[in-house]
Amino acid sequence: MFASFRQTTDIIEKRGADTLEPAHADVYRGKPGRPLNLILKARHDFLSIWRKNDYTNRVSSMKLLGRQIVIVNSPEAIKYVVATRHENFERKSPQMRRALEFLLGDGLFISDGETWKQRRPLVNDIVHKNRVPAFGKIMETTSTELVQRWNDMPDGASVNALYEMAGLTAEIISRSVFGNDLGEDAANAVTEGFTSYQSLIDSINIGYFLGFDEGLPVLRTPKLRRSVKRIHGIIDKVVEDHLAGRGDNNSMVELLVRRQSRNPELKLDVVALRNEAATIFMAGHETTAATLTWAWYLLSRAPWVEKSVHEEIERVCGGKVPTLDDVPKLEWCRAVIEETLRLYPPVPILARQATAADRIGDIDVKPASLILIVPWLLHRTEAFFKDANLFKPERFLGGRKPIPYSYIPFASGPRVCPGLQFGMTESILCLAIIAQRFKVRVAEDARVEPQCRLTLRPRGGLPVTVHRR
Ligand code: HEM
Repeated sequence: MFASFRQTTDIIEKRGADTLEPAHADVYRGKPGRPLNLILKARHDFLSIWRKNDYTNRVSSMKLLGRQIVIVNSPEAIKYVVATRHENFERKSPQMRRALEFLLGDGLFISDGETWKQRRPLVNDIVHKNRVPAFGKIMETTSTELVQRWNDMPDGASVNALYEMAGLTAEIISRSVFGNDLGEDAANAVTEGFTSYQSLIDSINIGYFLGFDEGLPVLRTPKLRRSVKRIHGIIDKVVEDHLAGRGDNNSMVELLVRRQSRNPELKLDVVALRNEAATIFMAGHETTAATLTWAWYLLSRAPWVEKSVHEEIERVCGGKVPTLDDVPKLEWCRAVIEETLRLYPPVPILARQATAADRIGDIDVKPASLILIVPWLLHRTEAFFKDANLFKPERFLGGRKPIPYSYIPFASGPRVCPGLQFGMTESILCLAIIAQRFKVRVAEDARVEPQCRLTLRPRGGLPVTVHRR
């Protein structure tokens, strides 16, 4: 009986001598009007429920168990939602809020209203592009450590690129947020805690579809409690050390603490400080790890692009290790990252809940409806990107820019990712430092399946072999 509940996804991947259509789910061809099927399919994989029509320039609406879901896939309508009527659509979906509240409390990622307004400038300042140079050294050192570790392995050794990249970006963000004195064991414990938390929470909040506007709280199982307790315990200790003047002076937590002492009206107590630190940690490492992993997959399948990347690194850096100063000159590396973010946006769905009734395009929106902006669909819409399913980093070379609001891997409007510069710089720099010394190869017959949890990752990670250059 349960066999019919088991879900699989048909994956398309096409390779030519100099063209690549990298792995993506085939369009959905199920019969309309079967909400249970759709919910089950979405739980397995949110990216495999879209029909051909959804990959077009339009705003559409559907009902699922009485809930209105509006899918916004037109640049003008996206601008309307994220910028013009930001205040009506700033609220995250009940799914997102419920999934993360246990871990992040009122952290910026899921807050709204006054709390968001007060905290946003604070977090903005801390991860702002002006601060990127201060964290650039951490990016350089940590990537170089990874290169050294790979050097100690036999040539052609097998690793899982997703876990390697997650380790790398977690270390970078951990040193940036908490400072250098967190220690390897505590850093690993926080990273594992976040990974285990993600795997334990569901991707759909059924309660919302059953009529609860706020969704239902996630069941706090003993396993979930354990991973949260571990993360909170470690972060609280760091915050308390900083409050007592014993922390690393250059860390983001230190900046938060200093801000609080200058502006006591912010009322950032240990819990609020922990929530923001945990938010930056989570938002800042999962996304970059996914980006780098997808970039390795794409380069492995498109050696002609990899060649251009290698030539550029040689031209710009010669034999020396790439540094932050080289980043503006690494145009191919940047284009590869931008194209990776188009094809595999780490946050493939931006979900909001309408506060009041509104009208998006021709669609009347009811209060509490779910508004979905799906970068996965938008970035693969032929009207905005020619050969939308093909990997063509050239489309970003020479300062070429997509149509406004058609390319939003970092979202847009007042809730745009504050870590945009940090994330872009980190992705380009880590790619260049590693690609200078290693080729990463995905097995010819490997089945790579994009999976949408909180972020978009290859299901089961990305087993690869690494080869010295
Ligand atoms: C390639 C890397 C990254 C990508 C693709 C990315 C993408 C995004 C997106 C799409 C959002 C909005 C989510 C939504 O509205 O539902 C977001 C929010 C956020 N990101 Fe990033 N991000 C990246 C790296 C970073 C880094 C490195 C940091 C911190 C150092 C960071 C911190 C945040 C924070 C704090 C928010 C919440 C902002 C708010 O709600 O006002 N992100 N990110």
